[in-house]
Amino acid sequence: EIKGILFDLDGVITDTAEYHYEAWKKLAEDIGISFDRDFNEKLKGVGRMESLDLILEHGGKELSGADKEYYASKKNDHYRTMISNITPNDLLPGILKFMEEIKLAGIKTALASSSKNAQPVIERLEITHLLDEVVDATKVERGKPDPEIFLKAAEQLNVSAAGCVGIEDAQAGVEAIKSADMFAVGVGQSLKKADWIVQDTTELNLKDLRERF
Ligand code: G6P
Ligand code: MG
Repeated sequence: EIKGILFDLDGVITDTAEYHYEAWKKLAEDIGISFDRDFNEKLKGVGRMESLDLILEHGGKELSGADKEYYASKKNDHYRTMISNITPNDLLPGILKFMEEIKLAGIKTALASSSKNAQPVIERLEITHLLDEVVDATKVERGKPDPEIFLKAAEQLNVSAAGCVGIEDAQAGVEAIKSADMFAVGVGQSLKKADWIVQDTTELNLKDLRERF
């Protein structure tokens, strides 16, 4: 029986994955590193500094700690500008209906996001009341694919991992869910190891999820 549903934020609830992509692409090109969507897949679900490290490695560049701080905060400034205009209209199609359906069924919900900007994003989307717990990058030590964030969300909801479903658009996220021994829903493309893959968020509904769980 499903007791808790744990949502990734960027790319699952709203399309901020696209903003992260644009912000990283601009930064990478500013420092002379080529950047495309294929490489960007490796950054999805990965924390800010870890993402910068992957970009630098990809471009064969090394920077001092101070320079890395500078570039990471520059990327974040650009990202913050992009999210400042988010409204409830930016919820991905079907997500609001799905979250309301979950609430009505008495299933608990939590956010499990690697972003330090999760709080302002969910406030602007006006979905704070639909989430029982919020676990973001400020509350965990290890990033996805480590299972810590999903395990912590389950613990805060007071449900066992076996009763949890995690929903992700990133390979690192699906791996984190599977390492936590939970049922993984993958949104979009070819996510390896997901237990159920949906093409987009309009396919998410409790009946189909329960049949597969
Ligand atoms: C999420 C996104 C990543 C992003 C990370 C850190 O996991 O999928 O693309 O790098 O959060 O976000 P932040 O807002 O803290 O820079
Ligand atoms: Mg994501």
